[in-house]
Amino acid sequence: MDRLLVTGGAGFIGSNFVHHLVEHTDVAVTVLDKLTYAASEASLAELPRDRVELVVGDVVDADLVERLVGEHDAVVHYAAESHNDNSLADPSPFIQTNLVGTFTLLEAVRRAGTRLHHVSTDEVYGDLELDDPERFTESTPYNPSSPYSASKAGSDHLVRAWVRSFGVQATISNCSNNYGPWQHVEKFIPRQITNIIDGGRPKLYGAGLNVRDWIHADDHSSAVWTILNHGRIGETYLIGADGERNNLEVVQMILTHFGRPADDFDHVTDRAGHDLRYAIDSSKLRDELGWHPRFGDFATGLARTIEWYEKHAEWWQPHKRATEASYAARGQ
Ligand code: NAD
Ligand code: DAU
Repeated sequence: MDRLLVTGGAGFIGSNFVHHLVEHTDVAVTVLDKLTYAASEASLAELPRDRVELVVGDVVDADLVERLVGEHDAVVHYAAESHNDNSLADPSPFIQTNLVGTFTLLEAVRRAGTRLHHVSTDEVYGDLELDDPERFTESTPYNPSSPYSASKAGSDHLVRAWVRSFGVQATISNCSNNYGPWQHVEKFIPRQITNIIDGGRPKLYGAGLNVRDWIHADDHSSAVWTILNHGRIGETYLIGADGERNNLEVVQMILTHFGRPADDFDHVTDRAGHDLRYAIDSSKLRDELGWHPRFGDFATGLARTIEWYEKHAEWWQPHKRATEASYAARGQ
């Protein structure tokens, strides 16, 4: 594999993946990205130009996608509208990008016979009770709650159908909540870190008892690279790093890092349809492909992430005011 097309490579996880490829492989990367509000060219700015090319364009543009797919050995598909709160305010771009975009890509790889890895989310499985001893596995039934997770569930079904009906050479991964550098300040962890740096307080939805299963974005990247190279065609692999924490605990870990009192946060309006708990059993990926996370310790990974935001205010500050204004308009 010499040339890889990465859709959504100017977003949070896609840009972490491109950094991972430059550091750990020899492949040349083309990023196809529409540069929505969630993207940042600056996330790719320090990468060598002879290894990484950015094509600004839309994954629903069939002619562009067909040309780019034809020029590459494989495609990793990250491009998506990714934020649940935005999908509640306006679902339409989620249907367009996540469903029509994935369909457009599938038709292109079908015609070209190109290998595809589709990046998806554990949210397609709905949520778990706090005391449920089971975690999500590859055989958990789909039960998405939000317009975002429903659109990702639909995109997974499209990939599965194109594998079965047309023999498309694709794999799918469903990963838990990512944290790390270059994550937009609309998301939970960067929002709380940057609120504190800006002199404000963390904002907790509801009581803060909802549980997320945190994984560092670099571990997500190594898992995707492993599946792309060694995964069995047509298979789904769940990616997770045993990082379950409730939101209150995470806010208090961030407050402690800054030397602030553990109750120095605001409770704000809860998210409609808010999923209670996600938890991933990644045994298949570990046992079959030998993958292991490098950031086993969430506390260490979180501390490094906080330090990254402290050092890179010029990266996130331009987005902070508008993001907080739209949260404030929703009482969040
Ligand atoms: P993000 O919102 O940070 O980045 C998405 C990127 O896709 C942006 O660069 C954006 O410009 C681009 N994009 C959006 N619409 C596009 C279009 N029509 N054409 C081309 N590019 C377009 O998202 P993220 O958090 O990095 O998530 C990336 C992928 O990983 C998504 O598919 C998401 O569902 C999945 N995922 C995310 C998480 C998480 O915790 N963030 C966990 C599991 C899976
Ligand atoms: O599980 C994977 C998913 O993780 C991905 O598919 C999504 O793309 C990604 O955005 C993320 O979804 P969540 O909805 O879990 O992430 P978010 O960062 O929006 O919220 C995490 C938790 O924190 C959730 O329980 C809501 C809560 N929250 C969020 C924000 C922004 C707060 O309590 N306060 C906040 O200010």
